[in-house]
Amino acid sequence: MKTHPKLTAILFFLLCHITIASSAPLYMAVDNIALSCGTSGNTKAADQREWVGDLDSKFFPTEESNHKSITSPAQSQASENTVPYKTARLSYFPFTYVFPVTPGPKFVRLYFYSASYSDFDKSKDYFTVKAGSFTLLKNFSASNSLGKETLIKEFCINVEKNQKLNLTFIPFPSNYYAFINGIEIVSMPIKYMYYSPQGFTKDELVPEYVGQGPQFFINYSMALEMVYRLNVGGNPISPMEDTGMFREWSDDRNYLWSEGWYPNELSVKLKYSKIPNYTAPDTVYRTAISMGPNSTMNLVSNLTWGLPVDTGFDYLVRLHFCEIDPKVNYVSSRVFTIYLDYQIAEERADVISWADDKQYTPIFKDYVVKIENKGNEKNHTLSIDLHPVSTPEIAYWDAILNGVEVFKLSDSNGNLVGPSMPPPVLDQQPTPTTNKFSTKKIIFIAIGSGVGFLLVLTLVYCMILKKLKKTKRYGSYHPQPKWWCWPYPYKQKLTRTKASSLPEVLCRYFTLDELKTATNNFNEELIIGVGGFGNVYKGVIDNGNMMVAIKRMKPESRQGAREFRTEIEMLSQLRHVHLVSLIGYCNDDSEMILVYEYMKNGTLRHHLYDTDNDPLTWKQRLQICIGAARGLHYLHTSTKHPIIHRDVKATNILLDEKWVSKVSDFGLSKMGLDNSAVSTVVKGTVGYLDPDYARRQQLTEKSDVYSFGVVMFEVLCARKAMNQRLHAEQRNLASWARKCIERGTISQIIDPYLSNKMVPECLNVYIELAESCIRDQGIHRPTMNDVMEKLEFALELQENVDKAKDTNSKEVSLIHHADTSTPWYNNVYNREVLASTNGTELTTISSGLSFPGLNSVSISITSQDVSTTTKTSEA
Ligand SMILES: *[C@@H]1O[C@H](CO)[C@@H](O)[C@H](O)[C@H]1NC(C)=O
Ligand SMILES: *[C@@H]1O[C@H](CO)[C@@H](O)[C@H](O)[C@H]1NC(C)=O
Ligand SMILES: *[C@@H]1O[C@H](CO)[C@@H](O)[C@H](O)[C@H]1NC(C)=O
Ligand SMILES: *[C@@H]1O[C@H](CO)[C@@H](O)[C@H](O)[C@H]1NC(C)=O
Ligand SMILES: *[C@@H]1O[C@H](CO)[C@@H](O)[C@H](O)[C@H]1NC(C)=O
Repeated sequence: MKTHPKLTAILFFLLCHITIASSAPLYMAVDNIALSCGTSGNTKAADQREWVGDLDSKFFPTEESNHKSITSPAQSQASENTVPYKTARLSYFPFTYVFPVTPGPKFVRLYFYSASYSDFDKSKDYFTVKAGSFTLLKNFSASNSLGKETLIKEFCINVEKNQKLNLTFIPFPSNYYAFINGIEIVSMPIKYMYYSPQGFTKDELVPEYVGQGPQFFINYSMALEMVYRLNVGGNPISPMEDTGMFREWSDDRNYLWSEGWYPNELSVKLKYSKIPNYTAPDTVYRTAISMGPNSTMNLVSNLTWGLPVDTGFDYLVRLHFCEIDPKVNYVSSRVFTIYLDYQIAEERADVISWADDKQYTPIFKDYVVKIENKGNEKNHTLSIDLHPVSTPEIAYWDAILNGVEVFKLSDSNGNLVGPSMPPPVLDQQPTPTTNKFSTKKIIFIAIGSGVGFLLVLTLVYCMILKKLKKTKRYGSYHPQPKWWCWPYPYKQKLTRTKASSLPEVLCRYFTLDELKTATNNFNEELIIGVGGFGNVYKGVIDNGNMMVAIKRMKPESRQGAREFRTEIEMLSQLRHVHLVSLIGYCNDDSEMILVYEYMKNGTLRHHLYDTDNDPLTWKQRLQICIGAARGLHYLHTSTKHPIIHRDVKATNILLDEKWVSKVSDFGLSKMGLDNSAVSTVVKGTVGYLDPDYARRQQLTEKSDVYSFGVVMFEVLCARKAMNQRLHAEQRNLASWARKCIERGTISQIIDPYLSNKMVPECLNVYIELAESCIRDQGIHRPTMNDVMEKLEFALELQENVDKAKDTNSKEVSLIHHADTSTPWYNNVYNREVLASTNGTELTTISSGLSFPGLNSVSISITSQDVSTTTKTSEA
C-alpha cells in the first residue's frame, strides 16, 4: 500500500500514530535502566522498549535472609498486562533495590499495577517508598489510588558522588505488603532541567518565588515529584517520542477550564537558540492554545487551566512557550499577564522578547508557587490564568501557552508526602468550587448550541471499516495505560491479516485533490448539510464505487481543530453498527476534512418535524431509538473509561438506507474516568443540556441519558427540543413534557400521526422511560443499558400485539383490548384514569395511512379538559 508523503507529518497531529523509528535521541542518558520486577531475562514492552528482569541481574534486591520477597505474575488478563506490569515483586517485609549509577540528577519512575497476585490480598498493599533520605511515597496503596489499575510515579533525585541510588519498599502496617512492577532510572541533563543549583545557573533561569520573595533555588538537596506534564493544545506524547528522557506528556483537555483557540500547528523548523533542543519534544512547541482573534471576547476572560494539587508544598511550574503564529513576529505584538494560583507571576509575558526578538524559538519560564495548607483543605486547585495586556501599542490582545510541567518539591525533611495525607493523586479531576467560571459558562452554552449542527448523509457501506467493527478502543485516557499506544495490541492481529500500516487501516488519509475530485471541487450543489462548523458534501470515492459524506470544517471555526482531532481519535477506534463510521480525513493545506460513511436517510430530526418526508411509523421510531441507545451504551461501556458523547440530539442520530440509526458527531465527546465525573466547561445544545451537568459542571454518562430522554420526547411528540416561538411554559420540551405528565395531559402532545397506532402498554413503558431519563438528578436516571432494555421491551409489547392482530381474527384483537384498555396509565396518569373511566365520549383521530393490524387503539382528545379514552377500532 502506498504511503502518502504527508502521512509522516500528520502522525504527530493525530492520535492514530505509531512511534516512528527516529535517529539518535536529542539527549543520550548515561544511565538508562528499565527494570521489570519479578521476572528474568530481557523482555520488550509494547512500545519496543527493552526491560531487564531483576531476577538474575545485578539489581536483585537486598533483603533479610529470613524475610524474602516473592515474585508473582499478575493474575489478570487486563489489556494493560504488558511489560513491566506482567510480573511483580511483593513482600510483607522491607526490601531495597540498589542501583549503582553515575553521580547527578536522575529520573526515577515507579510502575505499579494493582492486580491480584498469588497469596496477596489485592487491597492490602500499604507501604512507604524511600530513596536514600527522601520519602517518595508514604502510606501509599496502589490498589486504593482512585480505582486506577496502573500507575506511574515519576521523581527527580540527585545522586552524589560515590553514592548509590537505593530504593527501599517498606510495608506498613505489619500485615500489609509492599510491591513493585517496574523501576526506571534515567539520567537527567544537568543544565536547564528543573534543578537550579545556586551559583550554577544563569540568573534568568532561576525560578521566581511567586508572591513570596525573589528567587527560589531548586538545589540538589531536594527531590521532585512530577505531577503534571501537559502538551497544551496537542496530543499525548509517548515516552518513546520524548527527547531521550522517556517522559510522558499528556494532553491538557481535562484541565483547560476556559474556551481555547487552537492555532495551526507550526510546520517550519524550530530555532533552539535560547534553550537546549532536548528540553521538550518539538511537538510540544508546535502546538499551543491561545484565546483567539476576538479581542473583545478576550478582554473579558482568562485563558485558564486548573490543576488539582496537595496543599502544604512548594510547586515548580514550568511553562513552555513558542510563538507559532506567523503574524506575531515582533516585540510587543502579543503580551499577557500570567497568574499562578491567583497571584501575578509575570506582569508582561512577551514570548518574542524572551526569545531575543525571534519567532519559532522555544522558551520556558520557571516559577515556584507555595500552596499553603489553609484550614482543612486537602486538595487545592492550582490555577494558571493568562490575560491579555491591552495597551494600544500591542497588536494582539491575546495569550498563548504551549506546554506545562508541574513538580511537587520535597519539604525540608525530604518528604514528598504530607504528615497524614492520603497518597497524592496524579490525575484527579478539578473540582471547581468558585463561581469564577459561571459567566463563561453561559457563553459556552450559547456557543455549543451552534456547534456541530447537522450532518445529512445517505447510502453506504464500507468494507474496510466493517471488518474492523469489533475493534475496541484500547486503554484509558491517561496517564496509563497509554492510549497513544493503543494500536499495539492490535498491530499483530491486523498485520497478519492485512499487510498495511495500521493508521491507514483505521483512518485512511485522503489528499485534498482526491476530495476535490470526489466533490466536484466542493460543488455547492453537493452540499447536504450546513452547520456552524462548515459544510457537509456528498461525494464519491474509489472511482465512483463508494458514496461518502465529506465534512469540511471552516478554518476559522473556533472549536474546529480540537473537534477535528477528537472526532478522529474517537471514531477511528470505535466501531459499532450504531455509530457512524469514519472512513478517513484530510488536513492538507490546514484543511480539516472528515470523510464518513454516507447515510442515505439523513438525520432523525429530518423525519420528525418541519419536513416533507413521510412520518416514521411508531415501530420505526422505536427501532431508531433502540439503535441509538445501543450506540450510546457501547460508548459508555466498551472501553475502560466511558466515553461521553455530550451532544446527543435528533440531528446527531443518522439513518442509513435500511433505517438503521447511528450516532454521529463526536466533536464534543470526552472520555470519563472510573466512577467519577469529569469536570469540564459546560457544552452541549440548548434544550438537550443536562441541568445537573450545567449546575455542577460534572460530566457523567447520565448527561447523555438526559439528552437521550429529550430525543425520546422529540420522537414521541414530533417537535423541537427547544421552540422559542411557543409560549414560555412550552418552549423547552423536557420541562413541558414533565409538566404534561404531572398534569396527566401527556397524550395531548403526542404526535397526532401516532395517535391510534400505539399499543398502550408499549406507550406506557416508553413514557415512563423517557420521563426517568430527564429526571433532574443524574443518579435518578437509568443507565443506557436500562434504556436499551426497556426500549426493546416496549418494542416487544408493540410487536406482540401487532402479530396477534396479523394472525388472529378481529375477535381476538377485540378481546385483547378489552383486557388491556383498563387503565394502562395507572401509575403516571391517575387523573386521566378518572377522566377516561367517567368519560363516554369517544373520538378517533383517524390517520390517513393505514397500517394493517396496527389501528387498534386510539387515544383521543376532545377538548382542553382532560378527557382521554381508549377505543378499539378496526383497520
Ligand atoms: C544503599 O545501600 C547500600 C547497600 O545496602 C549501603 O551500603 C548504602 O549505604 C546505601 N546508601 C544510601 C545512600 O542509603
Ligand atoms: C493510611 O491511609 C489510609 C487511607 O488511605 C488511612 O485510613 C490510614 O489512617 C492511613 N494511615 C496512616 C498511618 O497514615
Ligand atoms: C540539538 O542541539 C545540539 C547542541 O546544540 C546539536 O549538536 C544537535 O545537532 C541538535 N540536534 C538537532 C536534531 O537539531
Ligand atoms: C467578538 O465577540 C463579541 C461578543 O461575542 C461580538 O459581539 C463581536 O461581534 C465579535 N467580534 C468579531 C470581530 O468577531
Ligand atoms: C483572571 O485571573 C486573575 C487571577 O486568577 C483574576 O484576578 C482576574 O480577575 C481574572 N480576570 C478575568 C477577566 O476573569
